[in-house]
Amino acid sequence: MGSISATIGLLFMLYATFLSFESNKSQATSFPISSLISKDLYDAIFLHKDDNACPAKGFYPYDAFIDATKYFPRFGRIGSLVTRKREIAAFLAQISHETTGGWATAPDGPYAWGLCFKEEVSPQTDYCDSTNTQWPCQPGKSYKGRGPIQLSWNYNYGPAGKALGFDGLRNPEIVANNSLIAFKTALWFWMTEQPPKPSCHNVMIGRYVPTKADLEANRTAGFGLVTNIINGGLECGIANDGRVNDRIGYFQRYAKLFNVPTGPNLDCANQKAFA
Ligand SMILES: *[C@@H]1O[C@H](CO)[C@@H](O)[C@H](O)[C@H]1NC(C)=O
Ligand SMILES: *[C@@H]1O[C@H](CO)[C@@H](O)[C@H](O)[C@H]1NC(C)=O
Repeated sequence: MGSISATIGLLFMLYATFLSFESNKSQATSFPISSLISKDLYDAIFLHKDDNACPAKGFYPYDAFIDATKYFPRFGRIGSLVTRKREIAAFLAQISHETTGGWATAPDGPYAWGLCFKEEVSPQTDYCDSTNTQWPCQPGKSYKGRGPIQLSWNYNYGPAGKALGFDGLRNPEIVANNSLIAFKTALWFWMTEQPPKPSCHNVMIGRYVPTKADLEANRTAGFGLVTNIINGGLECGIANDGRVNDRIGYFQRYAKLFNVPTGPNLDCANQKAFA
């Protein structure tokens, strides 16, 4: 009691707490996203987003992307430099496929046309799952694809709005009207685990732990698993699917621009979709 060694022990604990506080702090603040993706790199990635041919012209500026990332402090900030850049490249690749204006013989190639669209042009439905009573569809509202990730369905608009502070069910249009909210919905989808699916974020930073069902379904970590999370029900388990290949093409181009390897398991041809 009150001995020197107890005092030293206490001081040591305080010092260790201080050190770990300092290192957490530096981990969280010394790598802003803008240090990994400059405006020049962003504009080189999205070469044609502000073309007259693109309906989203002017809707996806660099600053809106950077500002949106500030609401998700773990995005692009976990793991090694390669891991962090690869996560950002994968995110930008997936939103590029979702909003692509590219085609096989497009100027600068098919993968220079991400962020060309802000909303689905001719939706076949209102994307209303009326069996979902937690997030009920509102009369006359369409939950079609909007924003970088093409957020769709009432059961995504509802929780996205709740998490981000807008009325996703009564005002889904805001996702195609407000650039910051648009990027925030894409990052929300990326960061948020929707069981039984892991989050795209955890897959790309190596924190995905497959369940027995995942192992039986060949759902191994990699860019292909992210595709499975986003749209596996329609695209995975199919050999050489054009949509999956488009996502991969974007990722390969962006990984090169970030100067990082893509990692294995790029496609999901051998994976079963999530139930
Ligand atoms: C919001 O977006 C919709 C399309 O989703 C558009 O019809 C409407 O004019 C926009 N409203 C404003 C205020 O920009
Ligand atoms: C898992 O992948 C292998 C090939 O790598 C394939 O033969 C098998 O059918 C796949 N299993 C499922 C459930 O898709």
